Amino acid sequence: MRLFLDTASIEEIREINRWGVLSGVTTNPSLVAKEGRSAEQVWKEILAEVDGDVSLETTELEAEAMYRQGKELAQLGANAVIKVPMTPAGLQAGKRLTEEGVRVNVTLVFSPAQAILAAEIGAYIVSPFLGRIDDAASDGMEVLRRICEIYDVQGYETQVLAASLRHPMHVVEAALAGADIATMPYDVFTKLVKHPLTDIGLDRFLTDWEALRRKLEEGA
Ligand code: G3P
Repeated sequence: MRLFLDTASIEEIREINRWGVLSGVTTNPSLVAKEGRSAEQVWKEILAEVDGDVSLETTELEAEAMYRQGKELAQLGANAVIKVPMTPAGLQAGKRLTEEGVRVNVTLVFSPAQAILAAEIGAYIVSPFLGRIDDAASDGMEVLRRICEIYDVQGYETQVLAASLRHPMHVVEAALAGADIATMPYDVFTKLVKHPLTDIGLDRFLTDWEALRRKLEEGA
């Protein structure tokens, strides 16, 4: 399963990128707006920083305008993936973009039925929002499992990207369900590496090592 950061912060991306495990980035209009500067500038920096897929989201609502915006955004970098929403206009624009070789990520997906539509237009990625399904008192992970099973049974090649992940267990469960990609905010990414026993174990190893060094020094 590929690990993506769900952010538009170049500082967060640079830090996680140094770990050597970052395969891509997803952005959305809310995340880009948080940066408070030109969206094009933000996207270009991210596209240049990341050696992998970077999702840029369209904001037009009508199919023709969304298609044209998608074509423009795709020019920003060879690693750009264009997000369209799961709406009739999004499907129409997404299909045209896909047919013209633009890689499309169908976003705001909340059901297996919607995921079938995304696969049928030949989308490169489908993004079910697990956390937001949980927020609506439903089971986001169960939706993800069903999408993965349907794609498997039907032989769909669209990649399943588990989005709106809120904690490390979401990531672990998404991997078990067979998601191709998990995207998560910076704080979830940093929690993946942490375990109290790692810290305690490292502390003990270094204390023992220091004790040996002192003993040898005293004996010399
Ligand atoms: O970027 C799409 C998705 O991951 C948003 O997550 O936490 O705003 O529900 P969230």
